[in-house]
Amino acid sequence: MKKIIIINGPNLNLLGKREPGIYGAQSFKDFFTELKRKHTAYELSYYQSNIEGELIDKIQEVGFSYDGIILNAAAYTHTSVGIGDAIKAIETPVIEVHISNTFAREEFRHQSYISPNAKGVILGFGLQSYELALQSFL
Ligand code: DQA
Repeated sequence: MKKIIIINGPNLNLLGKREPGIYGAQSFKDFFTELKRKHTAYELSYYQSNIEGELIDKIQEVGFSYDGIILNAAAYTHTSVGIGDAIKAIETPVIEVHISNTFAREEFRHQSYISPNAKGVILGFGLQSYELALQSFL
């Protein structure tokens, strides 16, 4: 069974409460429970941290043994050379996802340190972005 992990960055622990007009009203915990129920062909796991170094540690930990990483680095997408380098360093393919269409938002969200090293990028489909990324590993 393919081992896939979803890694979420800062403030994504507040999904459901945080700016629901942009990020929706569903908590990630509820969404993830549903996703696991629907996609039994994968061994799916989930990790969230608000701390840049912890995200890098997790990427390194899974990056030589898992089949796929679905990464929403949130605000670190636009700032973190370290996360970009971590993705370059590992073997596991990374799909970058965003809930919102970052290109339809502020200019500073148009820059990504993840995209150049990702296998693909999916954004703007709400929480469904994660499911589309998962399907790409089929
Ligand atoms: C986000 C977009 C980022 O610009 C923002 O900082 C986030 C969430 C998204 O999923 O739409 O925290 O990654």
